[in-house]
Amino acid sequence: MMTQSAAISVGKRDFLDMADLDPAQLARLLTLAARLKRGEVTHKSALAQKVLAMVFLDPSLRTRTSFEVAMFLHGGHAVVLEPGRTSWAWETRKDVVMDGTTVEHIAEAARVLGRYADAVALRAFPRGGAWDDERQDRIIHDFASYCEKPVINLESVRRHPCQGLADALTLQERLVSPRGRRCVLSWAYHPKPLPTAVPASAAIAAASLGMNLHIAHPPGYELDPDDLTTIARVASGAGGSVSTGHKLDEAIDGADVVYVKSWGALRHFGRPAEEAELRAAYRDWRMTEARSHKLSDDGFVMHCLPVRRNIEIDAAVLDGPRSAVVDEAENRLHVQRALLLELLGDLGR
Ligand code: CP
Repeated sequence: MMTQSAAISVGKRDFLDMADLDPAQLARLLTLAARLKRGEVTHKSALAQKVLAMVFLDPSLRTRTSFEVAMFLHGGHAVVLEPGRTSWAWETRKDVVMDGTTVEHIAEAARVLGRYADAVALRAFPRGGAWDDERQDRIIHDFASYCEKPVINLESVRRHPCQGLADALTLQERLVSPRGRRCVLSWAYHPKPLPTAVPASAAIAAASLGMNLHIAHPPGYELDPDDLTTIARVASGAGGSVSTGHKLDEAIDGADVVYVKSWGALRHFGRPAEEAELRAAYRDWRMTEARSHKLSDDGFVMHCLPVRRNIEIDAAVLDGPRSAVVDEAENRLHVQRALLLELLGDLGR
């Protein structure tokens, strides 16, 4: 797995993008994750003496905790670094004269961590630049190129592949046969313009399962064209389809699942004050209780969390029977156990 050039069993097996998984690799991971969740297999010692180093340039609840627990459950150890807080502040730019506040370049950091750990994982959100620059997703790719051990993407500018895996497991366990079912990825209002890593990864997850995916957003909130191409390619390979539109209520009528997520307008990316006026017009893009009743009879609502209650999704929906958000968060643990076992594990133990 899982750089664009590597296969699951060959070379340095980075996991940077769920779209790099072929259908057999994805099916294998999801099957193992489901079996681990049901307790059918434990592989309690499969990661004995293995170390995962995790670096968070940005905050986390689920990602950090679920990876730490996953390593513990299989006999391994996780180390967490937060550069700029309890470890040296990182410089991520190439060819830079480091005469400012940063102390350690990722070129050395990635190489050193690779000498201590069996895999290294990194979270690196956008740093506040314009989309033309941020869309290169340079930090995660540079880090992976410097590190000699497998690198796991804990959410970068463009992708959150571990969230995508958890989303896929959640869709599969709730729908049993997701192919051909209707999934709506619904933009939601949020006070801040958020990155597109989660919506792109959720769309790839639904597309990977052959769902009929509709992406509903206000005008101006289109995803990156390359991401739409990737989502369409993945959907077509899995027998599904992708469409986009600007009508939320029409889109969710009878939907099997609505994935609620906010993201920023890419043409204003890195300039939140400029985007605020555009965004303010769409405060009603929210999963209300009334809207949740428009889903199919057993339709459900997903969100990666953290969620702004009564802004993105009403509390009554989050606390009600249609909410899958906590199951979805739990599934982070199971898919990451499967991922770590595939990358580093001795499954005979
Ligand atoms: N969904 C998710 O990645 O949560 P955290 O930001 O808390 O890790």
